[in-house]
Amino acid sequence: QPEYLIAPSILSADFARLGEEVENVLASGADVVHFDVMDNHYVPNLTFGSMICQALRDYGITAPIDVHLMVSPVDSMIEQFLSAGASIITFHPEASQHVDRSLQLIKDGGAECGLVLNPATPLHHLDYVMDKVDQILLMSVNPGYGGQSFIEGTLDKIRAVRQRIDESGRNIRLEVDGGIKASNIKAVAEAGADMFVAGSAIFNQPDYHAAIDAMRAELAQ
Ligand code: DX5
Ligand code: ZN
Repeated sequence: QPEYLIAPSILSADFARLGEEVENVLASGADVVHFDVMDNHYVPNLTFGSMICQALRDYGITAPIDVHLMVSPVDSMIEQFLSAGASIITFHPEASQHVDRSLQLIKDGGAECGLVLNPATPLHHLDYVMDKVDQILLMSVNPGYGGQSFIEGTLDKIRAVRQRIDESGRNIRLEVDGGIKASNIKAVAEAGADMFVAGSAIFNQPDYHAAIDAMRAELAQ
């Protein structure tokens, strides 16, 4: 079985108590902190920038921080997040003028890099970067909001990307983001994902430990 990573999206956390929320979700069994950066330009919503990432590092969070940039342009934000302690930085290829340069900027800064594909974004964006990316993030909702329903057609796309990763011979993580919960996480894993973002399915529950355990129990079946 692959190593499965659970990445709670702090988009659905209580921002007024963010440090505690992140501490709690990590103590409850999360592997990675998923950090949704929205700019009210590339996506129709506004969240938080690199200062909040730095604040979490200063608060003492040492777990990997997976920064999902939903911004355009991307390069200035990449530089800021590299300085703020990001571990992984992904961006949407159509939001960058020079995708290879943006990926290289992330790698040169010492973080892991990846591309994010929206539900209707074609796979050809991966064509000349499979030797470079550490992670591919497939959106299973249209980006901008938490709490949306998983788009079922994404399962075929996950299978197609899994095949491309296997053909590449590289150990590229396949992350899926949007509408994931205990009742569908197994199907997403079977399609080939090994990293699962979940916002509302964890932070809207009273017991984060129980929510994450329910997902792991499904994955273990
Ligand atoms: C959507 C974000 C997701 C979202 C996931 O634009 O990228 O990370 O917060 O939230 P849920 O799990 O509630 O769909
Ligand atoms: Zn995200």
